[in-house]
Amino acid sequence: MEYGYPKGHVFYRKLARTYPLVTHGDGIYLYDENGKRYIDGSGGAIVVNVGHGQKEILQKMTEQMGQVAYVHGTQFTTKAVEEYAEALGEILPSGLEKIYFLSGGSEAVEAAVKLARQFYLESGQSQRWRVIARWHSYHGNTLGALSLTGRIGMRRPYLPLLIDFPHFAPPYCYRCPFGSTYPKCELECAKALENVIQMEGPETISGVILEPIMGATVGAVVPPDEYFPLIQEICNRYGILCIDDEIMTGMGRTGRWFAVDHWNAVPDIMILGKGMSGGYFPLSAVITRNDLVDRLKEKTGGFVHGHTFSHHSVACAVGLAVLQFIKENHLVDRSRQRGVYLLKRLEELKEYPFVGDVRGKGLMTAIEFVKDQKTKEPFPRSDRFTEKVIDIAFENGLVLYPGTGFVDGMNGDMVMVGPPFVIEEKQIDEIMNILKKTFSKMNFKSPES
Ligand SMILES: Cc1ncc(COP(=O)(O)O)c(C=O)c1O
Repeated sequence: MEYGYPKGHVFYRKLARTYPLVTHGDGIYLYDENGKRYIDGSGGAIVVNVGHGQKEILQKMTEQMGQVAYVHGTQFTTKAVEEYAEALGEILPSGLEKIYFLSGGSEAVEAAVKLARQFYLESGQSQRWRVIARWHSYHGNTLGALSLTGRIGMRRPYLPLLIDFPHFAPPYCYRCPFGSTYPKCELECAKALENVIQMEGPETISGVILEPIMGATVGAVVPPDEYFPLIQEICNRYGILCIDDEIMTGMGRTGRWFAVDHWNAVPDIMILGKGMSGGYFPLSAVITRNDLVDRLKEKTGGFVHGHTFSHHSVACAVGLAVLQFIKENHLVDRSRQRGVYLLKRLEELKEYPFVGDVRGKGLMTAIEFVKDQKTKEPFPRSDRFTEKVIDIAFENGLVLYPGTGFVDGMNGDMVMVGPPFVIEEKQIDEIMNILKKTFSKMNFKSPES
């Protein structure tokens, strides 16, 4: 059977592609109805962390479903919600104590923007509503979240609908936006934030949102260690909230529970999603300090925000089961150790003339493709280089996660490799074999030939 446009009634995101039908998953593997096996090399969209088919999670989920199907977040709470929040509290950076559960990443990003806004409104600073974000960032696709996202290709069709949120340059050292090199640059990219704040008017800014390690648009860009603390210092100086979008990086993906743990940093607001539930159920959260929520309690008496599926007990039961699974199987350490091995092996790919950079932390890594290794010239978008890599790898049984357009809004090619944390070293070797097989099929003429 073939699935996808124009067959059937489902309208999928990619209209020019047929979709295999997955029948089941097991650990890092997926199987389709024809028995073909795929390595889930990117955990879907860097989501699957504990692996597929974990029976404990299924059991906890069905137990909760058996207790109650649904209660509304303004009417009841459940043990699952309370216990999960308690367990999360134990691993969160100290000072982050209040958790608002939601179901998707974009939803949580928008809730964070509204939380920052309501906090300032109720603190007598009603002019503060704008959030500053970065170019080449990814914060989601709903209109509010897309207004923050710095991915040009996704923004352009919807520009008339977007909110006027300012952007500044990312810490993308491989292609430094300031033409400099670290450490000579003295973190000009972080200091650029101060300039944006001043130009836009500090009294209008409620928050600065950033992915601590940039993901879906530009691919596993790890900033210098001083970067995040410097951004925080600038935020503090202007009384602006630092919003840490850990939707991709959180829950152990980078080898620590949260990416900010690498720098012992504590943001004002943290956002989680993706790996919270390991992909078993839609789940996300906005997390903040007591004093921010206290302010809302003192004034309005509540957060003027909510969704039908906020604080969903089944989602929280899954979240708790995933958290326990990660702890019991020491998967954060595993993500760190396997990440070191994966990155070391990915370095070998630089022997291919079109691999410009490999980068990442823990099991969040990326390979950037270039037309010319020396000049870093990107491929023209019309070559669809990333798409070709993705298709050939898929054919060869490896799922990767693509990103394009991050060099100049149009060009720029990368794939992310971010397998489930349960991966073994020999399975990383399997990924490498398929990557090499795939890359050797790329029809590439080096500029020198
Ligand atoms: C850092 C970050 N923020 C927000 C989102 C949006 O999450 P969702 O796709 O669940 O809406 C993503 C998704 O890739 C993400 O990586």
